[in-house]
Parts: sequence; C-alpha cells; structure tokens
Amino acid sequence: MLRGVVAMDGPSGTGKSTVSRRLARESSAAYLDTGAMYRAVTLAVLRAGLDPSSDEAEKVAVSAAADLRSVTDPSAPAVLLAGENVEAQIRGPEVTGAVSAVSARPAVREALVLHQRRLIDEGLVERGGIVVEGRDIGSVVVPDAPLKVYLTASEQVRAARRGAQDRKAGRSGDVEQVLADVRRRDQFDTTRKTSPLQVAEDATVLDTDNLSVDDVLYALLALAVERGLLR
Ligand code: DC
Repeated sequence: MLRGVVAMDGPSGTGKSTVSRRLARESSAAYLDTGAMYRAVTLAVLRAGLDPSSDEAEKVAVSAAADLRSVTDPSAPAVLLAGENVEAQIRGPEVTGAVSAVSARPAVREALVLHQRRLIDEGLVERGGIVVEGRDIGSVVVPDAPLKVYLTASEQVRAARRGAQDRKAGRSGDVEQVLADVRRRDQFDTTRKTSPLQVAEDATVLDTDNLSVDDVLYALLALAVERGLLR
C-alpha cells in the first residue's frame, strides 16, 4: 500500500506513463495522467476549429477544463470531456501536434492545476496514495510531494519508444517523424514561460536509457520504501 503522493515528471517517451500506472496498480494507489487532461482540452480547441495558439483557443480550453472528468483507477484510467470518453481521440497526431501550444497558456495551466489538486486530494482520501505524472508535478502541482522522480532518456531512445507505441496503436510511428516531434515538443515544453518542464530541486533523476520497465518499477518501489511510503 502506497501512502502519499509520488510525483513523476519528465519528457515524453521516457516510459513515464507505463511505470506510473504500474506503480499505482501494484501499490493499490490512484493514478493521475495530467498530460491526458492537457490533451483533452486541446481536443476541444481543435473541435471548435480554432488555431491552438490563439486567445480564443485559451478561452475554449479553460471552459472545457470545467467540464473535464478524470478516472483515477490505474486499471482503467480515462478522461471524459463533457461526459464523452475521449481516451482514444486524445492520442492522435492532431492533438499531439497542438497540445504544447495550448498547455503553454497560463489560464489553461491555472485551471487544470486546480483541478489536478482536487483530484489528488480525492485520490488520497479514497486510496491513501496516488501516483501523478506530468511535467510540473514536483515543481508546481504538489511541491511538497514526499517522493519526486524525474525520468529521462536520450532523444533517440524516446523517439523509438514513442514510435513503437504509435505503431501498436495503429498509427504510423515513423521514427524520423517521431524524433522531430519529440524535439519540437521538448523545445516548446522546456522554454514556455509558465511552469516549463524542469527538474524539481529535490527530485531523484532516473536515466531510463538502459533500464527495462521492470528495472524502473523496482527502482521506484525501492525509493518509496526508503521514504517510508510503502507498507
Ligand atoms: O505526457 P503527454 O505527452 O501526454 O503530455 C502532453 C502534453 O501536455 C505535453 O506536450 C506537455 C503537456 N503537459 C504539461 O504541460 N504539463 C503536464 N503536467 C502534463 C503535460
């Protein structure tokens, strides 16, 4: 049983989602994928036919955030936009291409961070522990989390993992194209003004280039035990 919040940050393709979800499942904790929330409000912007970097897009994303629900069960995580389960739609190339622009907007971040803190409190009440993954969890959303982990991996490894994931889901997954997308999003996510992707001061950095999912999971469990968060 996990007690408290585990903050999992890092860029895409580091295996963050896979290990965060497994950690939550194996320790009977709740699981929150904050990237899915940024993706869902981006889907609302695209459905409204708006340029994702426009001021109108920011307004639409903020109002979509008010109508967002997240299921934090690690066996069946989902995000619902106005009652519709949009888990599949938010993983496609259109949303992936637009999400950095929408998530860079301060009002969007403010709305979603409030929402995330509420979900985290609920997860703590219901299950006693929660694994939260994103880009700013340890630095902004839960700065007092008892365990903060920052996953990294080289660009090439991350692009290869993302490509394999895309192909498994029936999307193209061309490695060169995925590598270009990984670079573009890294650049955007690390240089935006509001809560850029950064390593929280007290985070443990894990380089996953040469680690399997099981290796990372084992390292996380060891850290949780060390902090007294697992019983
Ligand atoms: O983890 P992901 O690839 O599903 O995240 C999608 C995008 O959302 C990513 O490009 C950055 C943004 N994001 C963010 O800005 N803050 C978070 N806490 C989570 C994701």
